[in-house]
Amino acid sequence: MAYQITLLPGDGIGPEVAEATVRAIAATGVEIEWDRQELSAAIIEETGTSLPPHVLESLERTRIGLKGPVTTPIAGGFKSVNVTLRKRLDLFANVRPVFTLPGLRTRFQDVNIDMVIFRENTEDLYSGLEHEVVKDVVESLKIITRYASIRIARYAFEYARKNHRKKITAVHKANIMKLSDGLFIRCCREVAADFPEIAYNELIVDNASMQLVMRPETFDVLLLPNLYGDIVSDLAAGLVGGLGVVPGANMGEDHAVFEAVHGSAPDIAGQGVANPTALMSSAILMLRHIGEPAAADRMQKALMKVFRDGTHLTRDVGGTAGTEEFTDAVIAEIESQA
Ligand code: NAI
Repeated sequence: MAYQITLLPGDGIGPEVAEATVRAIAATGVEIEWDRQELSAAIIEETGTSLPPHVLESLERTRIGLKGPVTTPIAGGFKSVNVTLRKRLDLFANVRPVFTLPGLRTRFQDVNIDMVIFRENTEDLYSGLEHEVVKDVVESLKIITRYASIRIARYAFEYARKNHRKKITAVHKANIMKLSDGLFIRCCREVAADFPEIAYNELIVDNASMQLVMRPETFDVLLLPNLYGDIVSDLAAGLVGGLGVVPGANMGEDHAVFEAVHGSAPDIAGQGVANPTALMSSAILMLRHIGEPAAADRMQKALMKVFRDGTHLTRDVGGTAGTEEFTDAVIAEIESQA
């Protein structure tokens, strides 16, 4: 029976990378009945809500989504659709695997990077609690709870145990934010005690940023509250080729949304040059989640092969191919493994 999955192509380059990804998944032979729903800046303006009811209804029904980027206005306009989605579906864990792609030229190409970043996804400074105290003075509330901190820590440790990861590094700024980050780090320590086989250490976020650039190969699993997680996970993406190549997953107890972590790239939208690797890699995580590991492995191997070969890469990673040529090369590799 076909899987029912919500497809949110998004806007900008979203529809281009979504189409490419749908084609690559189809080549694996996994049957998916896509419930395509429009989620774009235009429809959000039109419906006046960051999360139009048709999108929420579809995700509540299918419980799984594959999502492209959505343009979000800066310093005003509607609320971030991603933040709203994560809150409404309680997608508390943001998971981002960051690994070296063979053959891809980066500043760190001679280093084997292989880490997974776990970011708390529902609170911290992303709670949206901001107000103007008096003219020209704004207060933004950083919310850290024991409930959410224990939940993300447990999720990361359980992942590490299941996937034979060896070390978890919790990242914080508890030397300054002694109460809020202090609570986060105490929760991490408490959970770590239940997983004695996994090494555990802590780094202050500024030091962690430096270490990531100087010795990225020493990191295994990172565990962070929301804001540091957002920033550090983009830094980590930059180590392996940028936002166009890293996947992302937003996981809850009942729902999961897999998404490309890059934005809508208005500068290249509609030109057929977008790199679909990030969304394809997110789809690989999705295939594993729905219980199709063989298809996930085939797609992963195909992507690796195309990168190693290097002749059909898109412009952002130093090639000359368009989205279609790259996708055709991935599909040819998937089919050759059949
Ligand atoms: P961006 O990620 O869209 O673009 C940054 C740079 O990376 C641009 O030069 C772009 O051409 C390039 N790029 C990104 N993805 C690429 C891909 N797959 N292939 C080739 N090149 C790629 O970030 P920017 O410009 O800061 O944001 C644009 C819009 O996207 C904003 O409205 C922002 O709010 C929104 N956004 C949405 C996200 C989401 O829905 N998950 C995440 C990040 C930003």
